[in-house]
Amino acid sequence: MDTRKPAQDFTLRIRRYDPDSGEAPYWDEHTVTLEPHRSVLEGLLQAKAKYDGSIGVRCSCRAAICGSCGVRINDKPGLACHTHLEEALKRSKDGKITVEPMGNMPVIKDLIVDMDAVHWKKINRVTPWLIGKTPVPEREYVVDRVSMVDVTQTMACIQCGACVSDCLSMEVDPGFIGPAALAKAYRFVGDPRDAEQQQRLKDLAEDPNGIYNCTHCFKCVEACPKGVAPMNQIMRLRRRAGSDHHIDDRNNGHRHEAAFVTLVKQGGLLHEAELLPRSYGGDSWFGKFAPKAGAELVSSLPVITKAVLRRKVNPKLALVPHKIPKQDVKAVREIFDTIGSREERYELNLYVVGDDKDLEQPVAGAVEDRSTT
Ligand code: SF4
Ligand code: SF4
Ligand code: FES
Repeated sequence: MDTRKPAQDFTLRIRRYDPDSGEAPYWDEHTVTLEPHRSVLEGLLQAKAKYDGSIGVRCSCRAAICGSCGVRINDKPGLACHTHLEEALKRSKDGKITVEPMGNMPVIKDLIVDMDAVHWKKINRVTPWLIGKTPVPEREYVVDRVSMVDVTQTMACIQCGACVSDCLSMEVDPGFIGPAALAKAYRFVGDPRDAEQQQRLKDLAEDPNGIYNCTHCFKCVEACPKGVAPMNQIMRLRRRAGSDHHIDDRNNGHRHEAAFVTLVKQGGLLHEAELLPRSYGGDSWFGKFAPKAGAELVSSLPVITKAVLRRKVNPKLALVPHKIPKQDVKAVREIFDTIGSREERYELNLYVVGDDKDLEQPVAGAVEDRSTT
């Protein structure tokens, strides 16, 4: 970015709200004058200094390190200190930069949200510290480099809460443990020094608000300013829980995934009507005759009826399997066969990049999981 550009005017539209005042939230506008490469945080601080000292905004390092300046800028979560005014202006809809508090957390004042009430509570839920193996070594625990690289991506988290702000599952179900806390959980599940990996996985799989409550919406991946990709860490927790430790959770999450995969492998596309019975009754055509599948179908009837009445589901399309050309089904099966024939599972994280060709000769630092997929 050209830092020689002269100062110019930027209008900030700031969401104001003081729950203690008894007044409804409202929008406030201030025009600040700064060079385009300055940050939205600098704009907010200038507005606070020049026009209204009561604007509530939280910050500390001003260098994208402490995670305290998380806000929503033009409808997207991010760090105010890490967003240039010029870039924010380009993304604004009407020439004014909109700044709001993060979502999914109660507002304390204006742009300051209550991180304790949601974010930190959930982080504490996953026991965010190492439970060391015993006997304790006489000197330090030695961890191999590959294992350490595996957890570095989650270690990049600065606890800003941007992923929590945009998590769609959390919006619907505030009890969901959520992206930041589950990414933190992988930090310890992936650490060979931790003594409770199996128990941690069982706990997170069995909790109805745990790893199977994520809907893969990718919002947390887009939101994270540090490339932690929390959804990817949640999928890794699922693979470890289901494929490696064979944890058959009571939420049916693992069986649902298995049924999904089998249906796509068999027909090239998902057959929606088969998914529910197989998830509950067993991953085969006979699943639909299991009493458990029948009970689940009956309990789901109100939701199914509502979806049909609102035309969200077309019964004809849902009941009849999708048909795609035979060669396409064959191509899909070949993908499954290729992946399934690998004896080792490679997971590449933020600090390791590569493609399939590299896997023939494992790259330095590739995370190698010896269990089969
Ligand atoms: S991918 Fe999962 S954890 Fe991430 S925002 Fe979506 S629902 Fe939440
Ligand atoms: S995972 Fe990313 S977005 Fe979420 S709290 Fe950590 S740094 Fe922020
Ligand atoms: S002020 Fe520290 S991350 Fe923005």
